Amino acid sequence: MDSLKIGNLEIPVPIVQGGMGVGISLSGLAGAVANEGALGVISTAGVGYMEPDFSTNFESATKRALEAQIRKARKETNGILGVNIMVALTNFDDLVKISIDEKIDIIFAGAGLPLNLPKFLTKDSQTKLVPIVSSARAAEIICHHWKKHFDYLPDAIVIEGPKAGGHLGFKQKQIDDPDYSLEKLLFEIKAIVIKYEEKYNAIIPIIVAGGIYTGEDMYKFLNLGASGVQLGTIFVTTHECDASDEFKNMYINAIEKDIRIINSPVGLPGRAVWNDFLQKVKNGEKHPINCHFHCLKTCDYKISPYCILSALLNAAKGNMKNGFAFSGANAYRATKIISVKETIQTLIDEFVTFKNQMLLASVA
Ligand SMILES: Cc1cc2nc3c(=O)[nH]c(=O)nc-3n(C[C@H](O)[C@H](O)[C@H](O)COP(=O)(O)O)c2cc1C
Ligand code: SF4
Repeated sequence: MDSLKIGNLEIPVPIVQGGMGVGISLSGLAGAVANEGALGVISTAGVGYMEPDFSTNFESATKRALEAQIRKARKETNGILGVNIMVALTNFDDLVKISIDEKIDIIFAGAGLPLNLPKFLTKDSQTKLVPIVSSARAAEIICHHWKKHFDYLPDAIVIEGPKAGGHLGFKQKQIDDPDYSLEKLLFEIKAIVIKYEEKYNAIIPIIVAGGIYTGEDMYKFLNLGASGVQLGTIFVTTHECDASDEFKNMYINAIEKDIRIINSPVGLPGRAVWNDFLQKVKNGEKHPINCHFHCLKTCDYKISPYCILSALLNAAKGNMKNGFAFSGANAYRATKIISVKETIQTLIDEFVTFKNQMLLASVA
C-alpha cells in the first residue's frame, strides 16, 4: 500500500479518519488514528460544548476548546493531524484562523464551497487546504476560483459519496442513483483534477469517502486511481472515539433497516440510525427551539422542527432520547467496540490479502 502524500506531508497508511461532529472525533480519536500512521481529524462543529460558558460565551469557548483539542492531540502523537470545518458554520472564518494559528497540518472544509479558504493562509503558514466535494462541478468551481483569485490549488480533494454519514451533498433522489456513485464521481473528478495538474504542473491527490469499510473496499478505490480513503463510521465503534458509549451502542445494536436518510433542518439530507427521537420528528412532534448560538448559516430556526446542534450535543453526551446518531450506510456492520489499532490493522490485513488474491488471479 503506497503512502498518501499531501504536499510535503507523508501519511504512511493512506487512511484519513473523517472529521465527525458534534464531539465524535476530537483529540482522543484523532490522536489515536495519527499514532497508527493514518491521518487523524478533529471535528470543529460545536467543539466548545464542554466549556462551562459554551452557551453564554460561544465565541471564546469555541476558541479555547479548539486550541486545547489541537494541543492535546499534538501531545498524543507525532503523526499528521487535521481539522474538519464545515463551511455552513457561521464561525467558519474564526475556526480557520485558529487552526492555522495552531499550525494544524491540514484543514478539510466541506458542507458548502470553501471559496475563500486560501485567503486565510499567511506567508509562513504550512497548513494544507483540502476541500470536500460531492460533485465534479464543485471540484471544478473550487479549482478555478482558487487558482484565479489566490493562485492556489487544493493540496488534495476529498470526494464524499452518497454512502457517507452525516450531512450528504446530494438530493434525496440522487442517493441511490448509480449515476452518483462514488466510483462514478471519482472517474469524473479525476478528469478535472488531471486537467489542472497538467496545466499547472501540480499534484492534487484524491481521497474518496463514503461506504468504505474493508481492506477490499480500499483496494478497489486505490486501484481506481484514488490516493487515499476517508473513513468515518468504522472509527465510531472504537474505544478511542470521543462519543459517548450510548452513541457507539446505537451502531452496535443497529440492523441494516435502521440506517435511514433523514431531512436535516440544515436543508440537506443526512444519514442516521433511526430512533424514537427521529420518529417523533417524523410524526410532527415539534421540539421547542432556543437558537442560542446561530451556529449554522443555513438553519432557519423559526421553521426548524428542532435545533440540530442541541440534538447532536445530546447524542454526543449519551442522551439519545433527545438526540440521534449520524452514521454511514455501514454502521450496522459493527458488532463490538475495538481499538483504533485493531481497526487499522484489520483494514491493512484485509487489503494485503485481497491484493495477493488479485495478483494470484492475474497470473493464473
Ligand atoms: C457521526 C458522523 C458525523 C460526521 N460529521 C461530519 C462533520 O461534522 N463534517 C464533515 O465534513 N463530515 C462529517 N461526517 C462525514 C465523515 O467525515 C466521513 O467523510 C464519512 O462518514 C465517510 O463515510 P463512512 O462513514 O461511510 O466511512 C460525519 C460522519 C459521521 C458518521
Ligand atoms: S437552531 Fe439552528 S442555528 Fe440555532 S443553534 Fe440550533 S442548529 Fe444552530
